[in-house]
Amino acid sequence: MASIFNWLMVAVVIGTAFGDLAEVRRQNDCPYPCTVNGHHFCHPIPCPLPPCVDSITEHGICCPSCPDGPNCPAPDGHTIPWKHSEMIDGKNCTCEHPLTQATCV
Ligand SMILES: *[C@@H]1O[C@H](CO)[C@@H](O)[C@H](O)[C@H]1NC(C)=O
Repeated sequence: MASIFNWLMVAVVIGTAFGDLAEVRRQNDCPYPCTVNGHHFCHPIPCPLPPCVDSITEHGICCPSCPDGPNCPAPDGHTIPWKHSEMIDGKNCTCEHPLTQATCV
């Protein structure tokens, strides 16, 4: 009875050790797991520049994205959505091209 118990303990210890080993191996094989368009990668991949000033990178997603869509920086520091205009300091500021400074007239 005692020997069966001891054997079980050994089995549990060995099983745990191998489980950890498998986990370490998984991390070594895939240190930076991420997904883009349903494809899985294990290392950082080159990403296109996100077309906004407030991009975010979600955990497990390879590339940054723009939660509020493309936009431009405006002179006073806030952002203007692409193709939109806002009056800033009495000037009509328009975001014509994402990521480029809004043009104010
Ligand atoms: C600002 O400029 C845009 C683009 O030229 C124009 O469509 C819009 O009507 C203008 N807004 C104002 C308040 O003048």
